[in-house]
Amino acid sequence: MGEVKTIGVLTSGGDAPGMNAAIRAVVMTALASGIEVKGIMRGYAGLLNGEIIDMDEKMVSEIMRKGGTILYTARCKEFMTPEGQEKGAQVLRDNGIDSLIVIGGDGSFKGAQALSNLGINTVALPGTIDLDIACTDYTIGFDTAVNTAVDAIDKIQDTSTSHERCSIIEVMGRNAGYIALWCNIANGADGILIPEKEEFDEQDLVETILNNRKKGKTHHIIINAEGIGESNRLAKRLEAATGIETRATILGYIQRGGRPTAKDRVYASTMGAYAVDLLLGGATNRVIAYKSGQFTDYDINEALAMKKTIDEYQFLVSRMLVQH
Ligand code: ADP
Ligand code: F6P
Repeated sequence: MGEVKTIGVLTSGGDAPGMNAAIRAVVMTALASGIEVKGIMRGYAGLLNGEIIDMDEKMVSEIMRKGGTILYTARCKEFMTPEGQEKGAQVLRDNGIDSLIVIGGDGSFKGAQALSNLGINTVALPGTIDLDIACTDYTIGFDTAVNTAVDAIDKIQDTSTSHERCSIIEVMGRNAGYIALWCNIANGADGILIPEKEEFDEQDLVETILNNRKKGKTHHIIINAEGIGESNRLAKRLEAATGIETRATILGYIQRGGRPTAKDRVYASTMGAYAVDLLLGGATNRVIAYKSGQFTDYDINEALAMKKTIDEYQFLVSRMLVQH
């Protein structure tokens, strides 16, 4: 394995608040060790187009408190082909980049895995609001997204109470229910629908709403994960079954933007620095994780083989805290 001289960094897939803190940490840690850093714009799409810039400290000052990613992000089908990956590895070699840090979700990890197989040293950072990566209990952006959603739901709760309504609130998460689960507990919602628990009983939810109304509750919040979707239809069905005026709100992309929380800044910075350290130690095909209260790293192949499940105890707590 050759000496690390130039590290490339890119962000890929859905953006997430905290990605900028990770980029900043990569740049500052690498420069402090005398390593050059190049930023690759627009994920793997920009890599294939040779959109590569030199990074210095000035470019990363003042970025930590900003949402989004200064390197932009993209999804790129061409990079999913062996030809695209070979071309990407060649572009990296042509630009003198021997090592690459990829910040993204598990789709992006597969790209890093492919490049490692082609001789580029790669380390991936879990960057997604969805918390849907099996090897880690934390992903960059989840904390900010949940706080944004909780804040929005608090506001909806105000108007829902004034009108004595029921509100269905759909949160992001792709096929994972973690954002929904956290919002459910944090907002004291009456019910939750998540893809991991598809065997959900709608009649049970109707009864919970009616019982809570009998006990004097004047509004009801139901958190629906995007992986279940169909919030407007659900609102119509619940209104018909309960006789309570019901509205649906899809929170959408608001959850992906905004100032990163302190937790996202600190964890993303730690992961960025850790990634550089791993590369300097000769590692490749690794993913950084936060597991059982510690920062650690896994082989990407091993990480991709793991299956993410919902935290059963947390789910139980969310059920217990619903009034019946
Ligand atoms: P995320 O990284 O958030 O999971 P995607 O699944 O959309 O988001 O993946 C982001 C990008 O990673 C894709 O657009 C593609 O360029 C790359 N990618 C995804 N899957 C693969 C794969 N099997 N091989 C190589 N690259 C991939
Ligand atoms: O992965 C993050 C995420 O925001 C998911 O929650 C959502 O399903 C998806 O990205 C939306 O992606 P796009 O930006 O392509 O619409």
